[in-house]
Parts: sequence; C-alpha cells; structure tokens
Amino acid sequence: MASILFLFISFIFFISSLTAPTNPSSLYSSSHFSHAQKKTSHRMIKELNLHPNLEVNILKSNTASSDEDLEVSESELVEKRLSFPVLGDSGATIADLAHHAGYFRLQHTIDARMFYFFFESRKAKSDPVVIWLTGGPGCGSELALFYENGPFKLTNNLSLIWNDYGWDKVSNIIFVDQPTGTGFSYTSSDQDIRHDEHGVSNDLYNFLQAFFKAHPDYINNDFYITGESYAGHYIPAFAARVNQGNKNKEGIRINLKGLAIGNGLTNPGIQYQAYTDYALANNVISRSDYNQINQKLPACEQAIKQCGTTGTDICQLAYNFCQQIFEDIISLIDNINYYDIRKKCEGSLCYDFSNVEYLLSKSSVKTALGVPSNIDYVSCSDLVYRSMLNDWMRNLEVGIPALLEDKIQLLVYAGEYDLICNWLGNLRWVHAMSWSGQKEFVSASNVSFVVDGKEAGILWNHGPLTFVKVLNAGHMVPMDQPKASLKMLELWTTGKLVEPKKGAVAPL
Ligand SMILES: *[C@@H]1O[C@H](CO)[C@@H](O)[C@H](O)[C@H]1NC(C)=O
Ligand SMILES: *[C@@H]1O[C@H](CO)[C@@H](O)[C@H](O)[C@H]1NC(C)=O
Repeated sequence: MASILFLFISFIFFISSLTAPTNPSSLYSSSHFSHAQKKTSHRMIKELNLHPNLEVNILKSNTASSDEDLEVSESELVEKRLSFPVLGDSGATIADLAHHAGYFRLQHTIDARMFYFFFESRKAKSDPVVIWLTGGPGCGSELALFYENGPFKLTNNLSLIWNDYGWDKVSNIIFVDQPTGTGFSYTSSDQDIRHDEHGVSNDLYNFLQAFFKAHPDYINNDFYITGESYAGHYIPAFAARVNQGNKNKEGIRINLKGLAIGNGLTNPGIQYQAYTDYALANNVISRSDYNQINQKLPACEQAIKQCGTTGTDICQLAYNFCQQIFEDIISLIDNINYYDIRKKCEGSLCYDFSNVEYLLSKSSVKTALGVPSNIDYVSCSDLVYRSMLNDWMRNLEVGIPALLEDKIQLLVYAGEYDLICNWLGNLRWVHAMSWSGQKEFVSASNVSFVVDGKEAGILWNHGPLTFVKVLNAGHMVPMDQPKASLKMLELWTTGKLVEPKKGAVAPL
C-alpha cells in the first residue's frame, strides 16, 4: 500500500514539473532547467576542480582572428601538425612520429566546428585507429588525453612528459571534443546544441568520414570506438551509426572491429537498480539505509520504462527521480569520492584536473593548436550536460545485439571501486542483454586477466563479448591502472585478450 501511495504522490510531482516550456528555442535557455539539475551539473564540474569561463562554446559572432587560426568556414576539415616539446623518452620506434590537431566543419549544422587531436602510433602505422570519447555529457576529451591514456601527461609546471602507457603506443588515436559546445568545439548557433544520440552519432559519423578522407592511409586499418562514463551512451549509438553507414554503402567504408565501454552508463534501468546493491556490498551504506533508499526504486523504474517508450520530457523526469537514489547514497557517505570509494574528497574537491584548463587557456598553446584566440577552452559544459537530460535515461543497450551478430567485438570494462558507473550494474546489463550467445556468456566461468604475473582483472567472455572487472581502479581505469589498461587494449585489439578455449572439440 505504501508504495502505491508513493507512486501516486510522485506522479503529481511528475505532472506539475511537466509544465516547463518545450519549444525548441527554450530548450537550452537556462530557465528550462530545474534548480536541482543545475546544482548537480555545477557540482560535478567543481568537484574536478574545473572552472570553465563559459557554460558552453556558443560564440555569437565568430570569426577566426589571425593567420594562425584554423579557418574552417570553407573546407570541411583543416588540420595542423603539432610539435610540442615533450620531456622524457617517447620510446617511439617510428621515424616520423606525427601529432595533429584540427577542426571539422560539421555538416547538417548551422555553424558547428568539432575540434580533435590525432596522434599517430609510436609503434606502427598499421596499428588500429582508435577514437576516444570522454563523457559528462559535456566534458572535453582532453581530460582523458592528459590524465588517462594520451601520449603525454602534464607535470605540475605545465610541461608535457611522455606517458609510458599512452594508448598511442599500440594505436593511432583520435580524441574529439563533443557534443558541440564542449572543449574547443564551438558554434555560433544555439540550434547546433545536441539533445540525443541521433544528433551525436551523426556528427561523429560525419567527422569520421572527413577524417578518413584526409587520412586515406588509415582507411584499411582496424577501427575501434572507445570511451568512458557517459560515452556508454555515445559509443553504442556511434557504432550502430557506423555499421549502418557501411551497410548502406554511404561514403567511405569504416573498418569497424569493435567498441569498448569503460565504466559506462548504457542501460540505466538496470544500472540505477544496482546503486544500492553495490553500496551495501561495499559497506558504503547500512542495511537500513539500503531498505529506505530502495523504496524509491519502483518509481524510478516506472519512469524509466515510460521514458523508454516515449523518449520525451518524461525522460527528464525519470532523471530527476532516479538521480535522487544516487543523491541519497552520496548524502550518506559524506566525503567519499563516488568515482573511487577508496578515496575521500578534500573539501569540495574529488580530483584536481585544473592544470588542463591552465594549459589550454594559454594563448601560445591555442596558437600552436590552431584554436582561434577568441575561443575559450570549456573543460566541461554545464549547458551541454543539461541539454542531454532527455537522453540520460534512455537504454542504449538495444542497438548492441545487432552489432554482436555482425561479429563486432564489445568490451565492457569497469574499475571495481567506482560507484557512479559501478561494475555490478554494468555486468548486470551485459548479462541481461539478449543475443545469440547470451546463454553461453552468462554461464561462462570467470578467468583472471593477468599483467606482469599479477591478477589485474577478472574476465568473462563468450564470442565477441568480453567483460573485465578491473582491480584496484576507480572510474578512470587508464589513470588508476595505466599499464593494465594499455595491455587490455593491446590484447583486445589483436584478438589475444581471451585465450582460445582449451580442449574445444571441432564439430564432426
Ligand atoms: C617542470 O617539471 C619537470 C619535472 O616534473 C622538470 O623536469 C622540468 O625541468 C620543469 N620545467 C621547468 C621549466 O621548470
Ligand atoms: C570467479 O569464479 C570463482 C570460481 O571459479 C568464484 O569463486 C568467484 O566468486 C568468481 N568471481 C566473481 C567476481 O564472480
């Protein structure tokens, strides 16, 4: 009885919040967002010690202002070769190691330009091409580039030093700032701001077409889509878009071999239910807190179901409902870092990524990258985050089975100490996914993922599907376990992450 009453009361709240204006032009006006939604996105950005000057990179009068700037109004893609001084030893075995930064003039937008870095492999041009997407939604991929898996890291005095475990050691890697308005990507029109995976995946697909046109040497390389956190939404949508483009023979055929989701949010209906289970199992909350917070689950589930079928403003209400479960947990755990429950947040800071903002706001650095001097670096865009709130609760797992049936590899990995996109919720959605190998995957026994003779993870596999629970890592696996994450990428992209089944008998 109590739960019925709860649902009913919630529903009134639901309806009364539905009165927000929904005409397109008001979607990004700040009045559209509730105070709570704004507080959440502001807080999340501040906890990383990021303080972008702008809410979003929308520049009403946009003109490149010097010869050094990459002027992209005419041609589709312009690129600049970089030559940053980097400390230490690259370990490169390649003679003409090349790094690039560029802008792509996005088609089907009023005026959007997507910024990217492209780092050729330190080992071989034939290595796979990998694209990395940082989440948020609304955070620039430079967070990963400089703190996780890029070719170099930032020292305290803002020098660059070679990263011994950069993913460019085994791949040609692209980092993009997206959706539009994030990082150095900019536009002059509100209408270019994206609200869903349809817009996001088309922009990424168009970028990829232009990228391979500009780099035809790489067209036949294996191609992998990777990323983290909210990219658990972007990656399946982007992979499906690429697969569809290939099938429809649109433009250049992309040699898509796989997608890897790190500590992602992919199937919220399952993942939001796992919060309290994960928190209880890790002694982050008590049994009575667990029971109390779980009372909010039916309303959250109900709202997610409705969002799944309508995909409208009801999704934002589902976000408000379900996010409350997460908020309740973190209100109980005081200053524990919800990206890594082993750690504490000091004051309002859970991480300090501020150096990336100092570096990328230097005019000498912007000039070297070809970024127009009037463009600010927006490390995380509050407005891009809030513009995606109708997308948040959608289930992006639905497009994955078709990819698996086409023998495209899926790697889902998660650092064991992350709460916000925890491994338990991720393993559950992977188990629940219906595809031809589901039964075998679910009944597969786990094996150790060993690096340097030590267990670095626990792995489940069947056919094209692999799950790795990464040990001693939080939300940002390549930051916490750089060597293991590089090894995982290398083995996965060369088909060696999983040992061939011993004793398998060929069918007669
Ligand atoms: C910056 O720090 C690095 C070590 O982290 C050091 O090797 C380098 O000399 C320093 N550069 C300057 C200009 O102080
Ligand atoms: C892995 O399998 C072993 C049995 O072989 C089991 O005891 C263990 O709990 C499993 N680990 C996980 C994380 O499921």
